Amino acid sequence: MVKRGYFITFEGADGCGKTTQLELLADYLKEKNKEVIVTREPGAKGLGEKIREILLNYDGEVSDRCESFLFLADRAQHIDMIVNPAVEAGKIVLCDRHIDSSVAYQGYGRGLDIEQIDRLNMLATNGRRPDLTLVFDIDVETSMKRVGKEKDRMESAGVEFFNRVREGYLELAKQEPERICVLDATKSIEEIHSEVVKIIEEYCNK
Ligand code: TYD
Repeated sequence: MVKRGYFITFEGADGCGKTTQLELLADYLKEKNKEVIVTREPGAKGLGEKIREILLNYDGEVSDRCESFLFLADRAQHIDMIVNPAVEAGKIVLCDRHIDSSVAYQGYGRGLDIEQIDRLNMLATNGRRPDLTLVFDIDVETSMKRVGKEKDRMESAGVEFFNRVREGYLELAKQEPERICVLDATKSIEEIHSEVVKIIEEYCNK
């Protein structure tokens, strides 16, 4: 029997704790002898790392559409070079941010046309959508405290921006409840981890 691969994405505003949860889940699955790949957007490796450097650290002005296309370019490379080969080989791919970040940040946050972003996302991924997406929901005050004073270009976008990003994620979850699960990211790391494990076990044993 061919082993089925999974593409699972982790989403939420900066400081929501999704990376910690992704790593905990990866350890949990590896202990169960699953083949797991941990990856991220922007900038998993190679060319993507160079795009990430521009996106997070370029200190000149960046137009909103240019920013969108850089994230999308990184996504296309990432899907073709890393995600698709791993999923097709039957692995579980855990990805820190993906298509929903573009809708939440560039669509809701920057105010670009959401349907257009969705179409461009599908162009970048060649039509692949994640099997399952976990959104770690958190209020902006708490997430900004977690991010601290040293902010990168994206994290410096301000409270209003991050309120819109949060609203974007919640709206996406309403539209696609089959794919997107929202978790309360203000709970303890252990509590959230148990919830994540429960969701993944249920999904992968369907
Ligand atoms: P990163 O340091 O990876 O942040 P985090 O640990 O919170 O994921 O930086 C990625 C930043 O890029 C983050 O602020 C979200 C933003 N981003 C977008 O605006 N659009 C996108 O499509 C993606 C993938 C990320």
